Amino acid sequence: MTTDRENVAGHDEAKLNAIIDLYLKTGIQVHSPGYMGRQFSGPVPLAGVVDFISSVVSQPSSFYEAAQLPNVAEKIMADELNRFIGWPPGSFAMVTTSGGSLANLTALLAARNDRLPGFWSEGGAAYLDRLRPAIAVGDDVHYSVSRTAGVMGIGEAQLIRLPLDRRHRIDVDRVVPALEAAERRGLRVFCLVASAGTTSVGAFDPIGELAEITRERGIWLHVDGAHGASLLVSDKLRWKLEGVDQADSLAWDAHKMMFTPAPCTLLFYRDKDKSRSPFRQRASYVFDEEPDVYTALDSGGKTLECTKRPMIMPLWVSWAMYGRALFAEKIEYLCRLTKDVHHILLTEPDFETTHWPEANILCFRYRPGTLSDADAHRLQVAIRDRVKARGTFFISKVDLAGVAALRVVLMNHLITEEHFRMLLGEIRAVGQELLRGGRR
Ligand SMILES: Cc1ncc(COP(=O)(O)O)c(C=O)c1O
Repeated sequence: MTTDRENVAGHDEAKLNAIIDLYLKTGIQVHSPGYMGRQFSGPVPLAGVVDFISSVVSQPSSFYEAAQLPNVAEKIMADELNRFIGWPPGSFAMVTTSGGSLANLTALLAARNDRLPGFWSEGGAAYLDRLRPAIAVGDDVHYSVSRTAGVMGIGEAQLIRLPLDRRHRIDVDRVVPALEAAERRGLRVFCLVASAGTTSVGAFDPIGELAEITRERGIWLHVDGAHGASLLVSDKLRWKLEGVDQADSLAWDAHKMMFTPAPCTLLFYRDKDKSRSPFRQRASYVFDEEPDVYTALDSGGKTLECTKRPMIMPLWVSWAMYGRALFAEKIEYLCRLTKDVHHILLTEPDFETTHWPEANILCFRYRPGTLSDADAHRLQVAIRDRVKARGTFFISKVDLAGVAALRVVLMNHLITEEHFRMLLGEIRAVGQELLRGGRR
């Protein structure tokens, strides 16, 4: 379908239809109840319409002059969502970033600037004769954080992996000993990353208890809530992020549990002054020496991105039109459904459960009879592949304690228990086929 003409081609409707058809039919069908495998959601339709408008009007949103409404909407949305975080109005900051990975990098840059003065201008050399800077993370932290350690020149080897408890959360009792052991090895932990909804099983680290430890030791606490921060909008589920108001920064993906077109991430800082620290470059063509009431709305001074999508618009419009209830009800339904399907699994003797679900992520294994870990691992990977290839369901897998598990993420409110039972039926059929060595 590449163009074969040098001149501007006339409108070829059939060709355009074929391209759009191909686009719609390939990739993951996120609006199907069979989509249970990843964390990006099928957007609320209205949000999709607003995203389309964004593409047409093309208003890059780092600067107010180009994107007046998006910059104001960012302020409104920040205030709206802060109602569930709880910082004093006017004291905090929020900036949108293109995804949770970039939000983690941005927050950790701010943390490094705040806690390691001189690193930005002098580089790591400024710390050669001191304790080596390090970052503490839960053992199950998202890979973007390890990547960030490399990108920032901290070095992946300077990640202190904190052990987890039986619920896959950072084990608070073992944090202080781990920090002290790190110090004895010549490391200085300047930042601790807690996860609010781990990628693999959706576990929530105990933020409040971790905050007590980090506050005492002058450590920046970043909460990676890419997946689970959205639970804050639910009165029933907010407690899972108890203590989030004590965090220094919080990453919150709206393209996951706020059902917004990707990417749309909100990065919050408890102290608004900290949000600008890494980004004080001079650029007279865009950063005005004398800020006025309008440039004060710019977010370009808080982000790595210069041109960026006005990603807040689909979220803000859905929020403005439907209100919080739409989001809270969907999130509560999905978390409840995940608990219910976990109960179904508990009654199926040929399935093995791996954790009690905290959110809408559930991992399990098809493990009939007495399979060794190595055989069980191979079987889950083969089941995942074959289920995906059949095309009715899309599921993922994750290794837990070295053995693969099947992983479902329930992101669509059209999914019912019945769909899950159908999935189990398919997994069982495929699993039996594989165990018999049969191929289709
Ligand atoms: C806990 C967590 N953090 C960060 C990310 C990365 O977010 P993004 O895919 O928006 O870059 C993910 C993605 O799944 C995640 O689950």
